Amino acid sequence: MTDSAKKQTILSGIQPSGNLHLGNYFGAVQQFLQFIEEGRECFYFLANYHALTSVRDAGRLLNLTRGTAADYVALGLDPSKCAIYVQSDLPEVCELQWLLTTVTPMGLLERCHAYKDKLQKGLSADHGLFAYPVLMAADILIVRANRVPVGQDQKQHLEVTRDIAGYFNNIYGDVLTIPEAYIPEKVAVVPGRDGQKMSKSYNNTIELFAPEDVVKQQIFSIVTDSAALKDPKDPDRSALYAILKLFCTEEEQAYWTDRFRSGGLGYREVKQAIFDLYMRTFGPLRARRLELENQPEYIDEVLRQGAEKARKVAGPLVREVRAAMGIP
Ligand code: ADP
Ligand code: TRP
Repeated sequence: MTDSAKKQTILSGIQPSGNLHLGNYFGAVQQFLQFIEEGRECFYFLANYHALTSVRDAGRLLNLTRGTAADYVALGLDPSKCAIYVQSDLPEVCELQWLLTTVTPMGLLERCHAYKDKLQKGLSADHGLFAYPVLMAADILIVRANRVPVGQDQKQHLEVTRDIAGYFNNIYGDVLTIPEAYIPEKVAVVPGRDGQKMSKSYNNTIELFAPEDVVKQQIFSIVTDSAALKDPKDPDRSALYAILKLFCTEEEQAYWTDRFRSGGLGYREVKQAIFDLYMRTFGPLRARRLELENQPEYIDEVLRQGAEKARKVAGPLVREVRAAMGIP
């Protein structure tokens, strides 16, 4: 690896707005791990300010924030090799957000999905939801991230971040690093139990750390069509196959593709296979998550150290931005 590739800075975040699920793992966390393994400088945080746009129960938000931090560690994000922190422990982020809003055109935010969808449903959106992408831009730009591993649903937000950084640099000089999204095609959109995108907000998830009987029930409730056992089935039109293949090696995937196409495969058998593969992948991580349940001081310490690492980069960046804008 060349020195400049090594220096690449990676950042991503997940909102602690519900329990982590397969979409979060395959669409995001798996790539977080890959970048750590490659020896990059990595910042992985919990977007609790963003979560305020949907969670309005203080106790629940606090529990989800600490719980998701424990999830990160159990999933293998090694705190000695990356910074794990809570967004609100980095007060510089809000400061940068304000500075960025002053170069952000209204039209750019009016086109963003979350805000537009809410208006289209006839609901009134609050300013937090409208400004959400600017806060996200601040999260990313504040550590000079080059690459941002996310699922497909965040692509638009990354484009907005690039636009905002570009507007800023045009006015004030080359201060901000323009980041790129990293979205591997195979995992860009993980379908939920109902075939739509899996999401905490759609009640269609398969969770990473729910009790085993709940996970089993979630897997066995993935939608299927009414094809008979003997019928050949098109793998490319099946949510079940799309979920199954996430866990498979290439040979395993070829085996299942063939079984789908040849007929004689029942959906129960596929669901049981998904459950077994799920346990193969997550069994040890789930055991580690249970242990972490009893170590809240350790998680607090991980978050404290993570915020300290992130602030070392964020402080100088914000000072540079202020200076460029004429703020003493
Ligand atoms: P949710 O939609 O469940 O609230 P988040 O918005 O917190 O999840 O997403 C956290 C990360 O996980 C983001 O990078 C997002 O793109 C990714 N992600 C979430 N759901 C999926 C999915 N179904 N497929 C692929 N990636 C996903
Ligand atoms: N908006 C992201 C999501 O819902 C979470 C997020 C906030 C994020 N800030 C970020 C992701 C910065 C990547 C980079 O999934």
